[in-house]
Amino acid sequence: MESIQAIKQRFGIIGNNAALNRAIEKALQVSPTDISVLVTGESGVGKESIPKIIHSLSHRKHGKYIAVNCGAIPEGTIDSELFGHEKGAFTGATQTRNGYFEVADNGTIFLDEVGELPLTTQVRLLRVLENGEFIKVGSSKVQKTNVRIVAATNVNMFEAIKKGKFREDLYYRLSTVEILLPPLRARKDDIHLLFRKFASDFAMKYKMPSIRLDESATEMLTKYRWNGNIRQLRNVAEQISVLEERRSITPDTLRQYLPNTSGNLPAVIENEKSESDFSSEREILYKVLFDMKSDLNDLKKLTMELMQNGVSQKVKEDNESLIQKIYGEDENDEVFHEEETTAPVKLLSISPEVTVVSEADKYHFAEDVEEEETLSLHDKELELIKKSLERNKGKRKAAAKELGISERTLYRKIKQFDL
Ligand SMILES: Nc1ncnc2c1ncn2[C@@H]1O[C@H](COP(=O)(O)OP(=O)(O)OP(=O)(O)O)[C@@H](O)[C@H]1O
Ligand SMILES: [Mg+2]
Repeated sequence: MESIQAIKQRFGIIGNNAALNRAIEKALQVSPTDISVLVTGESGVGKESIPKIIHSLSHRKHGKYIAVNCGAIPEGTIDSELFGHEKGAFTGATQTRNGYFEVADNGTIFLDEVGELPLTTQVRLLRVLENGEFIKVGSSKVQKTNVRIVAATNVNMFEAIKKGKFREDLYYRLSTVEILLPPLRARKDDIHLLFRKFASDFAMKYKMPSIRLDESATEMLTKYRWNGNIRQLRNVAEQISVLEERRSITPDTLRQYLPNTSGNLPAVIENEKSESDFSSEREILYKVLFDMKSDLNDLKKLTMELMQNGVSQKVKEDNESLIQKIYGEDENDEVFHEEETTAPVKLLSISPEVTVVSEADKYHFAEDVEEEETLSLHDKELELIKKSLERNKGKRKAAAKELGISERTLYRKIKQFDL
């Protein structure tokens, strides 16, 4: 059996924390079996590497490994994605399609964000787990499959069960073995180690000297709560690497990249799962909402300008930075010169000219209506991007081409939506 150290090296896992080592050890122990595993832990703690370890050390390693983000698939299509459908099962089902459970026969399926599965899908999943049976949507034929399931969640499953959103029997079936990944704030010794690793990766990527934290900044880094965990730490390391000219980082500089640190409260380490598991989600949502509100205000300002002055070169020039902020970089950017598809996806290529307010509507742009539209626009955009990335197996270039945007814009969107 490979050592924990070797596994960490193979899967790029940094850290020496005892709870992290225990999680990897558990993954090693269960990998030769077909036991269902539930990986739990806050958002951004690194849950995605556990099913990969389990699959690649199992006898299924030559079979397929399919990762499904249950939260990203619309409720109406998830059964068909997972279990397939028969031709004519619903409008648009022009051909029979095999679902992931059929395709991954003798392999492993990773059900990420399993807490998001609709109840009807949970019933189907329970059946596969119990006896390997499933039925395609629109079919009556029972099929068999031999799939190992590893699931992950960052939500409190007991809460979900209590609220009737998750079946208790399925929870116990999925979590025969539970692997808990600790939050970063409970891995204090690993924080600076990870930061140095990310700083050196970004120094290589952007071809500049690596940033270094002075002693007090290191202390601040270690005491911070890191509600977004390793994902947030990585983002902070990237932002500082790119934006700061001085390579030696002081607490004053670092503070600017750490939200809500005015009180600089040291992190409280919870030993048990508690309500606080959800605080990070809440904060992330608040941030997204604030960013959207700010974009909305910018849009309003721009719309007003356009209504008053029409679309002219002057308006474009006067509002250049605003337009860039809202709509992103010019798609014909000289540095990233890429072929755009002939029919770009509309949602992603809104130009200011699209924001036309008819004369009759001039005084009826009620705030709540605009907000609702902006929200659904974001949702649709996010969904399009996720789907495209999944279809193209995470290959950004292909996804960008499919979406009709430049790779750089896609990169920005991925960052924006934290995909
Ligand atoms: N120990 C680690 N060493 C290096 N990088 C890590 C480690 N753990 C996580 N990461 C990186 O942190 C990021 C977040 O990890 P991951 O996507 O696995 O989080 P997650 O637990 O699945 O979060 P979510 O619940 O939001 O999906 C990834 O870029 C991953 O590569
Ligand atoms: Mg994940």
